[in-house]
Amino acid sequence: MAKIEFRNVVKRFGAVEVIPDMNLVIEDGEFVALLGPSGCGKSTSLFMLAGIYLPSGGELLFDGHVVNEVEARDRNVGIVFQSYALYPHMSVRDNILFPLRFKKTPRDEALAKVKAAADLVRVAELLDRRPGELSGGQQQRVALARALVKEPQLLLLDEPLSNLDASLRLSMRTEIKSLHQQLGVTTVLVTHDQVEATTMADRIICMRAGRIEQVGRRTTSTSGLRACSSPASSARRPSTSLPVKPRAARSRSTAPGFRSRARRGR
Ligand SMILES: Nc1ncnc2c1ncn2[C@@H]1O[C@H](COP(=O)(O)OP(=O)(O)OP(=O)(O)O)[C@@H](O)[C@H]1O
Ligand SMILES: [Mg+2]
Repeated sequence: MAKIEFRNVVKRFGAVEVIPDMNLVIEDGEFVALLGPSGCGKSTSLFMLAGIYLPSGGELLFDGHVVNEVEARDRNVGIVFQSYALYPHMSVRDNILFPLRFKKTPRDEALAKVKAAADLVRVAELLDRRPGELSGGQQQRVALARALVKEPQLLLLDEPLSNLDASLRLSMRTEIKSLHQQLGVTTVLVTHDQVEATTMADRIICMRAGRIEQVGRRTTSTSGLRACSSPASSARRPSTSLPVKPRAARSRSTAPGFRSRARRGR
């Protein structure tokens, strides 16, 4: 698990400054949502955490260590993309196995971890299929299993539910939330859906034009998230910060193969 910190982080693409000066601490085991309109920099922030984008300035820290120059594969971060990004020519088993190749995990151990991750998200019966033979919801679960198989210290979810129909989205919200409670992994969810943010995350970071405009928490009503509620009305509003104490990780039983972070005395 990791405590995450953005310290004066800047991101520019050429001359365009997308993130001017981001400061945010995400506590070990916390579930945070980055909420905001299209183009406000949510995915850019997430991709910097993943090591896909390099910050143009400032520091990104995992557990107090600067990771700006650390390769994506060395960060032990699991990511689920909006499009799922599964490899179409590979079986579900090989898709989930893929991140372990970089870790040079022995084959038997890797297959046991795949089975544990597949059990956790209930796709164990689909391991021999290819992604094209799965429904959207099943593909989303496989993408989650692939992100979880290496027991990441940080789980990043970029609009993972947006391709699902309304009822599946509802049930997956609950499932992802209970997975987080079970594993205790520090999680960052990107969404533009206020209800999704407030029902899943402990803390909601409202972003606009690359800046954090408001910090709310799960108990904040959606109408209380003023900075996220109306693009026109909130653009010039000063930032508001609600005092937030991250929830303690819960102790619960964990699927075989997954050590409960809650029980490791964080
Ligand atoms: N690789 C890139 N090169 C140039 N500009 C980029 C790149 N990636 C993102 N941007 C720009 O950075 C800004 C923020 O993009 P980002 O993808 O982070 O937004 P977002 O909040 O995730 O939006 P959405 O909800 O639509 O996914 C946008 O103006 C976008 O065009
Ligand atoms: Mg995005």
